[in-house]
Amino acid sequence: MEKNKRKPVIAGNWKMNNGPAAAGGLLDALLSAIPAQPVCEVVVCVPFLDIPLAAEKLKGSSIALGAQNCHFAASGAYTGEISAPMLAETGCSHVIIGHSERRQYFGETDETAGQRLKAAVEAGLTAILCVGENLTERDAGQELEKCTAQLTAGLAGVTEQELERVLVAYEPVWAIGTGRTATAEEAARVCGALRQAVAEQYGAPAAQKLRILYGGSMNEKNARELLAQPDIDGGLIGGASLKAGSFGAIVDACQD
Ligand code: 13P
Repeated sequence: MEKNKRKPVIAGNWKMNNGPAAAGGLLDALLSAIPAQPVCEVVVCVPFLDIPLAAEKLKGSSIALGAQNCHFAASGAYTGEISAPMLAETGCSHVIIGHSERRQYFGETDETAGQRLKAAVEAGLTAILCVGENLTERDAGQELEKCTAQLTAGLAGVTEQELERVLVAYEPVWAIGTGRTATAEEAARVCGALRQAVAEQYGAPAAQKLRILYGGSMNEKNARELLAQPDIDGGLIGGASLKAGSFGAIVDACQD
């Protein structure tokens, strides 16, 4: 499948920003900024507490709702966790899995990312699997090895049919929140290698259908060039997703 047959995805990750009071205003602004029929899929991944409000506001709109994590069990004695069926029940269609901040600060591993992803797709959610190397790994030239290992572990046990409910996000850790974006060529090289790794595991047709996003200081200025790369099918946006104007401009950058 050629790139232009894959529908781009622009997903916002609000991270730990905006409680329900602030979320209402931002969601209203996003509903005004995003066209009713955008050329890409648009998703906002909000804090858990904002989900009921966001589900209500986004109902019937062109913006899909996502969460930022889920547990691998459907229910049970896991204090402080939220399960994938709970997210589906409250109106989420997407969930981020294995974000580098979860791995860095909360002890999540390749293995638990795989378990969480499997639970997400089994609950009918679309999982956004994050992979990415840190600066030490990048300086040692280990980025392809690191990212493909995270990808393989994250997809453990995922069937070809379930893969249709997976998006992969390449987020180099050194580019997140730093203002330092990977160059379009650097990002494209890793995304190409990720698609190749999926082709080896699932076959070329499945790999050609997979949408691979870039994340890490993506904004309205650099989005167009990144989105033009052959293996980059969208973006996972942190800081710039907190401003409706910037996020809307990134959505618009998918037009070209
Ligand atoms: P920034 O866009 O703020 O660099 O964050 C990227 C990210 O981590 C999205 O998940």
